[in-house]
Amino acid sequence: MEYDIDKIKQSLRRKLDNYRYEHTIGVAYTATSLAMRYGEDIKKAEVAGLLHDCAKCIPDDKKLAKCIKHKINITDIEKERPYLLHSKLGAFYAMKKYDVYDKDIINSILNHTTGCPNMTLLEKIVFVADYIEPGRNKAKNLDELRKIAFEDLDMAVYIILRDTLDYLSKKTGNIDDMTQKAYEYYSNLIANRDDNCNQKDDSCNKEDSCEKEDSCNKDDSCKKESSCNIDDSCNKNNSCNIESKE
Ligand SMILES: [Fe+2]
Ligand SMILES: [Fe+2]
Repeated sequence: MEYDIDKIKQSLRRKLDNYRYEHTIGVAYTATSLAMRYGEDIKKAEVAGLLHDCAKCIPDDKKLAKCIKHKINITDIEKERPYLLHSKLGAFYAMKKYDVYDKDIINSILNHTTGCPNMTLLEKIVFVADYIEPGRNKAKNLDELRKIAFEDLDMAVYIILRDTLDYLSKKTGNIDDMTQKAYEYYSNLIANRDDNCNQKDDSCNKEDSCEKEDSCNKDDSCKKESSCNIDDSCNKNNSCNIESKE
């Protein structure tokens, strides 16, 4: 699907205040960069980034009224904190006002505030981009997190959820159920991933030592040791020659 990026930007310029518009451009820019890094569709990332806060500048009482009018479900926590509704309303407007019907883009807008368990790549990209875009400066450890985002996206999602819960519990004590569920999912994912990695390391180490003893010729690092005479870099290395002779 072709998206008219200029038209979307012109519309957002009218509907958002300056701060929100600059933030929006920053999220689109960061989402596009993350899409390049992780192999996501660049245009989809740009459109999702541009539209993620398209309903943000509607006053809270109007957000509630518009959700009721369009029969959008409102949870108890959204009644208490209506600004959360900008995600649902934004997803609705992306379809109705911007003709964007791509399910992944719509869900990325829908889940960008709280996150959710098992997000798609695009959802994770928009969720992370919203937090780390260049205009953000309040969250702690942003420089480190920006680096992590381009190295390990799941880890970045986990850190953002963890820090958001920490912030919310100190500030309001009022935590959205979906943020908690998303945190538990990514906390488990990271823990299981680390466990598997440790187990693999263990078995790798055993295999390594075994190969070196039993079948050195199958192991690249061993080949350099056992047949240094055909390896230029090894020939220049005395210690390697000594090892090969041994
Ligand atoms: Fe937002
Ligand atoms: Fe945002």
